[in-house]
Amino acid sequence: MKDYSAYFNGPSLKNARKRGRSEVQHLDDAFEVPADMVGIGQGQHYFIQTYGCQANERDSEILAGIFETLGYEAADDVKNADVVLLNTCAIRENAEEKVFGKIGYLKTVKKTNPNLIFGICGCMAQEEVVINKILKKYPQVDLIFGTHNIHRLPQLLKQAMLEKEMVLEVWSKEGDVIENMPSTRAHQYKAWVNIMYGCNKFCTYCIVPYTRGKERSRHMSDILEEVEELKAKGYQEVTLLGQNVNSYGKDLDSDDDFATLLEAVAKTGIPRIRFMTSHPWDFSESMIDVIAKYDNIMPFIHLPVQSGNSEILRLMGRRYTREDYIRLFDMIKKKIPDCAITTDIIVGFPNETEEQFLDTLSLYEYCEYDLAYTFVYSAREGTPAARMKDNVERKVKEERLYRLNEIVNAKAKKANDAYIGRIVEVLVDGESKRNPDVLSGYSQHNKLINFKGRKEDIGKIVKVKITQAKTWTLEGEQID
Ligand code: 5AD
Ligand code: SF4
Repeated sequence: MKDYSAYFNGPSLKNARKRGRSEVQHLDDAFEVPADMVGIGQGQHYFIQTYGCQANERDSEILAGIFETLGYEAADDVKNADVVLLNTCAIRENAEEKVFGKIGYLKTVKKTNPNLIFGICGCMAQEEVVINKILKKYPQVDLIFGTHNIHRLPQLLKQAMLEKEMVLEVWSKEGDVIENMPSTRAHQYKAWVNIMYGCNKFCTYCIVPYTRGKERSRHMSDILEEVEELKAKGYQEVTLLGQNVNSYGKDLDSDDDFATLLEAVAKTGIPRIRFMTSHPWDFSESMIDVIAKYDNIMPFIHLPVQSGNSEILRLMGRRYTREDYIRLFDMIKKKIPDCAITTDIIVGFPNETEEQFLDTLSLYEYCEYDLAYTFVYSAREGTPAARMKDNVERKVKEERLYRLNEIVNAKAKKANDAYIGRIVEVLVDGESKRNPDVLSGYSQHNKLINFKGRKEDIGKIVKVKITQAKTWTLEGEQID
């Protein structure tokens, strides 16, 4: 096998931990298409399979934009593609297992189409263990690149076309902020807008600060320009994206913080603004005030708590206690009474006791969230928590998840029931997946609404009267 060590510049978890405040460059010209790659994709097709969070979804839009700049068209199936990319997620073991299953499947597709270029990118590509496994076991992979160098796709593709050996380029040093990348957006009316990359929180269970690098904020002027452009094109909604949006601006020379940014985005007049995700630790009162002040900032906050027990929160490195969280939660509900709040919870953190788990249940009872994404703790190699001895059996963890989900479902139904008879505003996404006679879209509070309405209103914000509530969705009728 070829020796990759020469140009295999990482990924190294050790290096990630040593990150300094080295200058991040904001570049307007880093993306370029080499002269001999112009039009290389004419008559060819690409297929991107995306796993994981919105950061990956947004990266895939950029990758699609790059492919189309090169002349490729989107394929409707891997079988009709000349290039396939898996944009991977590393957050939990089962996310990685899914990808390895797909890699196995693509081996068979490659047999019928030997010219297929098969690439892997995203968070898994930033993990040393994963790369070593692919190098050893999956020679059918032609190309691996990480999260910091997606702008180099044209150059990497060229190499993969010319070389017989696997092309591998993963940077452990976080990238610069690159502003001139093309993108093909997945939706016509709602858009994701990156406001920052990376995460500096280093929660002890989480792989993200290693796979996505240190926090790097985009300049406010670049973000506002993107939002203005979207608005001019008729977009109705932007979701501002960051692993922890509250940290926005801390790495910039200016005084701009997330509250300032949010207010400036609100003033563009774009009809709807959402943001994801907020860490409770640096959720400021000024942010709450801005959300409360502007009608076009949606009354919906995803506020991951992870655990309701202060000792577990300390071991998770979350930097807040149960009491701090409740104080913040209460302040949000007081200042924005109609705010929907959702959360993330991990059960079965190493050595979590039954009493500590019960604290999570009691916190849930107190907060009565609109919804929660619940997970069994999954050890990620290289994170501090993975080195903790864990005496909680898998069976116990799963049983805790089940008990928690019972409450999550009951509270979700209760929260939805409160909407019966109310008139909500829905951005119409299109026909419902299950029934083309029904339209669907999301309300201000991020509730999925299925309703009888006019198809010509797809892409618009319409008023819907809610007639029925289910656990995950609401039903209603368009009234204007
Ligand atoms: N195990 C289980 N869940 C995790 N999450 C992050 N890391 C892990 C892990 N190692 C969950 C957290 C986070 C969400 C995106 O995924 O709840 O908020
Ligand atoms: Fe992971 Fe914590 Fe950063 Fe979220 S805030 S991405 S859980 S390290």
